[in-house]
This record gives sequence, C-alpha cells and structure tokens, in this order.
Amino acid sequence: MSEAKKLFIKTYGCQMNVYDSERMAEALSASGYAATDRAEEADMILLNTCHIREKAAEKVYSELGRLKPLKAAKPELKIGVAGCVAQAEGAEILNRQPLVDLVVGPQSYHRLPALVEEARAGRKALDTDFPEEDKFDYLSARPQARRAPAAFLTVQEGCDKFCAFCVVPYTRGAEVSRPATRVLGEARDLVARGVREITLLGQNVNAYHGAGDGGDWGLARLIRELAAIEGLERIRYTTSHPNDMDDDLIAAHGDCAKLMPYLHLPVQSGSDRILKAMNRKHTADSYLRLVERIRASRPDILLSGDFITGFPGETEFDFEATMDLVRAVNYGQAYSFRYSPRPGTPAAEKPQVAKAVAEDRLQRLQALLAEQQKAAQDAMVGREVGVLVEKPGRLPGQIAGKSDHLHAVHLDGPESLIGQVVRVRVVESAPHSLRGALVV
Ligand code: SAH
Ligand code: SF4
Ligand code: F3S
Repeated sequence: MSEAKKLFIKTYGCQMNVYDSERMAEALSASGYAATDRAEEADMILLNTCHIREKAAEKVYSELGRLKPLKAAKPELKIGVAGCVAQAEGAEILNRQPLVDLVVGPQSYHRLPALVEEARAGRKALDTDFPEEDKFDYLSARPQARRAPAAFLTVQEGCDKFCAFCVVPYTRGAEVSRPATRVLGEARDLVARGVREITLLGQNVNAYHGAGDGGDWGLARLIRELAAIEGLERIRYTTSHPNDMDDDLIAAHGDCAKLMPYLHLPVQSGSDRILKAMNRKHTADSYLRLVERIRASRPDILLSGDFITGFPGETEFDFEATMDLVRAVNYGQAYSFRYSPRPGTPAAEKPQVAKAVAEDRLQRLQALLAEQQKAAQDAMVGREVGVLVEKPGRLPGQIAGKSDHLHAVHLDGPESLIGQVVRVRVVESAPHSLRGALVV
C-alpha cells in the first residue's frame, strides 16, 4: 500500500476557521491525507484565510510566495486557498498566483475531496458558491480518535446584520442555524472522545434558531439540552450580538451550572452617533442596561468586548463616549482594533479618520482595557476556581488549563489530570496567566 499523503493546514482568523480546518482535515483523511504540522513534508497545503482586516489578501499572496521553493522542490505538491479571502477574491487568486491549484469558499468545504481530485488531475479547482445544501450534513465527522478536552462546535454561520464596517455577511453569507438534533449528536460524539468543554460557535451565535423537538430552539434551549449530556462539564458560546441576548439566555447564565461565567459581547463604540453610522441598531444606554440584566442573573460573570477606533466620522467626543462606556462596564477581557476599510462595505466609501488619530485613540483605549483586564485577573488571587486541565505546563511537573472565567492557569500537578476539571486556589497573577495550587 502506498504511504499516506500528507496535509498541512495553516489557519488564520476566528475560531470558526479553527473548527472548519478540523472538518477539512477530517474530510480529507477519507481521501487518504494524514495531517502534518510540517509544511515541507506536505503533499497538500491549505491556507484557511481571514478577510476581516486590512491587507488580509496581500498577506495571503506573500505567504503563497513563500511556498514557491516547496513547490519547486516537489512539483506534485498541491496548494489551496480556503476561508474568507478565498470567498472574497475567488478566481482572482488563480489568476494572480499560478502556483495555486485550488480555491474553496467557506460554504463549499464538503466538496473539498472532489476539488482535491480535480487539482490532482492537473486542473485548477474553484468553488465559491453558496450552495443550498448544508455543508455540515456532508462533513459530519466519522468516529475519530480521542480529542483535546476543549472543543469548538459550529452551530450557526453567516450574518444578516450588515454592520457598515464588516465583510462577514459577504464572505460567510446569510445566517443559517444547524438543526439542534445534529448539534446534540455531534456534542455527544465529542464527549465520547474525551471532550469536557464545548464552545458553541457562530458569527451571531445568540441568534441561533435550529430545528429541534417541537419546533425551533433558541440558544438557551440548546444549551440546557447540551447540559444534560453526562460527561460534558462546561459550555461556552461566542460571538454574541447585544440585540440577540433574549431573556431565556440571560436566565440560563443564572440557572445553568455548566454555562461558564464568561460572555463576549461586542459593543464596537460607546457613541450613539457612531453606533448608528455603524448600523449596530443598539445604543450605548441599551447596551449598559443589558449588561446590568446579565450581571443580575450571574453576578460574577466576566465580560469581554470588541471595539473599533477611528470609524469614519468618529470625533474625539465620540471616542470619549467609548472610554466612558468602558469605564461603566469594566471589562475583564477585550479586543480592540483600528478601523480598517474593507472594499465593498458601506463605511469604506466614507471620508476616513486619519490613521494617526485612530491609532492614538486605539492606544488610549487599549491602556484602559489592559488596566481593567489586569484588575479582573488580580481579583482572582486567593479565590478557589474550577480549572479544566488541558495540557502539560511549560515546566516539568506543571499542568495548564483554563479557569471558569477563561483565565489561563498554571499549576503543579500530574499529567494524569489532563481532561479533568479540578479545584484550584489562585496564588499569583502573572502578566497573561494565573498561577494556582490544587485544592486537595
Ligand atoms: N460576529 C462577530 C465577530 C465579527 S469580526 C461580532 O459580531 O462581533 C470580530 C471583530 O472584528 C468585530 O467585532 C469588530 O470589532 C472587528 N472588525 C470587523 N470588521 C472590522 C474592520 N473593518 N475594521 C476594524 N475592525 C473590524
Ligand atoms: Fe460583522 Fe456585525 Fe455581523 Fe458581527 S454582527 S459578523 S460585526 S456584520
Ligand atoms: Fe476572518 Fe472570516 Fe472569521 S473574515 S474573522 S475568518 S468569519
């Protein structure tokens, strides 16, 4: 029998790409490709790309350029581009970079084995359709080996919100929810393979409405049913839009013990004028009231957010409103970005804020967010937390994992604890992690 061919996937962008890369690897394992983490020994290289911010496409082209020597050394090597740049650029990639054999958009991954066959037969393969069928129906994983204790599970994809800055509605298409029965089946399979924590993924995950028993289920119903799976210990979800946080989901944070006390709830700006220009359809005040209700349900919840500085039209006054909102919420964690004009989105056509101004605001915002993040982490010292042990630590005799609040935690302990949720007393707050001691 010939030796297995080797597949190398490089993943950029959001968790959904991480999930998709795993599904692509599984789909291609059926075609005889074994995963490798060394590009040099691969027979097939896939770049799973992200288009969210500036120069994404340029970065992909320069990465492709770097693969030239590998292809020269091994002419039968096939190179593919997947993900959101593939969706946005399509055939242009094949025109601009002749070493690319295959381009596949995020909604067509179930067609990957056929596309790879095309490419291996020496023909250029391209698929950036938004097909009617659900790719996950065809990508459902066959029973596989054991998995790491924490896994992603995509339940919803695409977005109908059309925030004025964002490419996602164009690259991922319209909002689609997977049937709840399929999600439950996949979750049970993950748990049977050693998974203890599942993070439900969707570009608008809290808008989930998948077909279940007796009609469509919202995200809260799905979470409660998942919580009944024995062996599954933790549930998270990301990313949420403020307007889709319904009462049931807020209540679940208070009464569903397996739902972890962490919520990523992007607001983008604290200025109502800018929020309107962004087409966010919420105000600073409605967001603050929502935060209040969530905290009433789960007082120790750690909130995370996304922010953009220098959106077209943003004045110093608008930016100060963002700083005020951040002070009012007090985030435990956050992501912030300088506005990056994306071709084809409405905001890209507007008069732009000078880069230096947007950058200066970003620095000030990040300083404030870093302060809050550190305070939230420091406040954990002395407390007892649950930690899902995920891997060996950096030093011998150490293990590492994530706390209920999603802080990275290092502690001394045996590797036999990997895959278990253990009780840990936090003893020290380091720059990006906590140190803890097993509670016995
Ligand atoms: N669906 C999620 C994630 C979208 S992308 C959500 O709605 O929150 C993740 C983050 O990238 C966004 O929340 C936003 O803060 C940022 N982002 C998106 N487009 C951007 C752009 N053009 N420039 C700068 N940041 C952007
Ligand atoms: Fe993009 Fe807005 Fe949709 Fe999030 S909600 S994916 S930021 S359009
Ligand atoms: Fe990037 Fe596409 Fe995710 S643009 S952030 S990989 S949805």
